[in-house]
Amino acid sequence: MAVSEWVVEPMASTWREALRVPYRLAVRRSSPLFVQRVTITTSSASPASEADPESLQKPASHQGKRRRPLTAEQKKFLDRALRVNQAGELAATLIYTAQTPPITNAHPHLRPLMKHMYDQEAGHFSHFNHLLAHHRIRPTVLYPVWTAAATILGWSTGIMGREAAMACTEAVETEIGEHYNGQVRELLLWVKEMEERGEEVGEELSALVKDIRRIRDEELEHLDEAVKEDAKMARPYEVLTGVIRGGCRAAIAISEKI
Ligand SMILES: [Fe+2]
Ligand SMILES: [Fe+2]
Repeated sequence: MAVSEWVVEPMASTWREALRVPYRLAVRRSSPLFVQRVTITTSSASPASEADPESLQKPASHQGKRRRPLTAEQKKFLDRALRVNQAGELAATLIYTAQTPPITNAHPHLRPLMKHMYDQEAGHFSHFNHLLAHHRIRPTVLYPVWTAAATILGWSTGIMGREAAMACTEAVETEIGEHYNGQVRELLLWVKEMEERGEEVGEELSALVKDIRRIRDEELEHLDEAVKEDAKMARPYEVLTGVIRGGCRAAIAISEKI
């Protein structure tokens, strides 16, 4: 099995910093004072269901277990996944930022909900900014395009009204929830195979699975809230959610590549 090391460095503290760091680190020589070597391993795939979350919260026992780095294929998967996650969370924060003024002005009772969802998205965004900087993954080159598109989407659904704004959330979270589910399934497969081979599951991998699972659950919570707030009453619901879901799928596919 081809092996390689996943080299990590200290994280950036803001998204602005995070976006700069990958490029800066690319030309900087690694210092032994800061570089850790993360040794995670896996091999061929087989179907896996979600593991018991409790088992992932226990620190890995390092005694008597082999440690191996990620394969090139796994590194590629993580590069793509984390880049898309960052772009998606950027879009989510911008959608809520644009929707909040018109929606909360017309429906003040929605202020706590909009703030709660925004705050969670900001937390997700910050988390993936840290991970991109930490693992020297470049953001999508279409970052400015997604910034504009998400703002326009948030603004337009916001002025269309409460139901349209909620339909937007429902559509986005449906796609994002499925997207995160795919990542959780893949990472759990890695974990399962490592455990079956008696290999050490790195703490970073365990933490990543837990974090993506938590974030996915929060996205699905937003979806539920949007449905409760009459997302399905939006007109034209099918067209609106169909276009938004298609746009999300396209954005994910493009951000995986560039
Ligand atoms: Fe999010
Ligand atoms: Fe969300």
